[in-house]
Amino acid sequence: MTSHIMPTYQRLPVTFTHGLGAWLWDDHNTRYLDALSGIAVCGLGHAHPAVHQAICQQSGKLLHTSNLYNIAVQEQLADKLIEKSGMDNVFFSNSGAEANEAAIKLARKFGHERGIDKPAIIVMEKSFHGRTLATLSATGNAKVQQGFEPLVEGFVRVPYNDIPAIQLAIADNKNIVAVLVEPIQGEGGVNIPADDYLNFIRTLCDEHDLLMMLDEIQTGIGRTGKFLAYQHNGILPDVCTLAKALGNGVPIGACLARGKAASVLTAGNHGSTFGGNPLACSAALAVLATLDKENLIELASEKADQIAKGLTRRLLKNPHVLEIRYKGLMMGIELDRPCAGLVQLALQKRLLINVTNEKTIRLLPPLVIDAEQIQQLIQTLAALVQEFTTQP
Ligand SMILES: Cc1ncc(COP(=O)(O)O)c(C=O)c1O
Repeated sequence: MTSHIMPTYQRLPVTFTHGLGAWLWDDHNTRYLDALSGIAVCGLGHAHPAVHQAICQQSGKLLHTSNLYNIAVQEQLADKLIEKSGMDNVFFSNSGAEANEAAIKLARKFGHERGIDKPAIIVMEKSFHGRTLATLSATGNAKVQQGFEPLVEGFVRVPYNDIPAIQLAIADNKNIVAVLVEPIQGEGGVNIPADDYLNFIRTLCDEHDLLMMLDEIQTGIGRTGKFLAYQHNGILPDVCTLAKALGNGVPIGACLARGKAASVLTAGNHGSTFGGNPLACSAALAVLATLDKENLIELASEKADQIAKGLTRRLLKNPHVLEIRYKGLMMGIELDRPCAGLVQLALQKRLLINVTNEKTIRLLPPLVIDAEQIQQLIQTLAALVQEFTTQP
């Protein structure tokens, strides 16, 4: 079969036709367990009735007007996000990269308002912020950048989870206006920093009048066992970006700002045709209501403990498993060898997983995963890892 789609993805040989919760079915009606949620998107699982109903109802009323007019459902979503995040206001986009673009523009304008002509943002090694030119320039992965030079300037890179490196970068460069960081690096290998890492960044940003900007595109919306990962630290950032699970599959992104950051972007500074349209906002409102109604965020931590315990018990004696790390349902199992091949092997066992940073199996199951599915995930994955690591 010839495809007329640009070959920007290496696709696995499967086509899904429908789903329910953590189950997916392919076009031969074979059932798979989804432990990836479309890369942290379908937190409520597939075909959740609340999202289905919200989309159907909204599409029967109004899909799109324009940001030229007031959009009631966008206001409602903004109110809800502000209430849940402690931030002050929101710009809505259609994707994570666009939410980060808004954050980067906001930081640059913040710098210009302080008389800095060439504002620079501290970013991290192994980070991932998106595929647009500015966000791939912020991303700490040469493979993502290669072929797209010249990169956008104004980023200063330091190692992740390294506070002295941030201090040095600030001392060395008068143009620094912000720090952009993921609370846990997802694409970079499920890297979980020290418990007080974000607290130290908060203090440094306060001391130097910098914006603390958190990319919560993968960690947000309950994934780590709090609505937002920074809520584990009892702090508030100045800017926070969201996307992925916010719409449970309906494309929506958001750039939240607070305090001095909330008044930087004004009329004419930024925009998006589709950003915050009625359809996307009604889906996101249904997501937020369902998370509360089904107590999914609290349960995420319990489910994560069960999965980690089960995997640890079965893999404890396997010397090729270096570490099982997780916060909520964001999990990494690091092996002592490249393991991209495991994705295909898991698919043959009807299990969807992912590998990041070459050696780390990444699990991002839907928050609605149930007890039986948890057992199936543990058994299938542990057996696969045993088989894979004991191969000659
Ligand atoms: C932390 C983080 N930031 C940004 C992005 C980019 O989001 P999108 O693919 O919606 O543009 C991703 C996507 O994987 C991500 O994980």
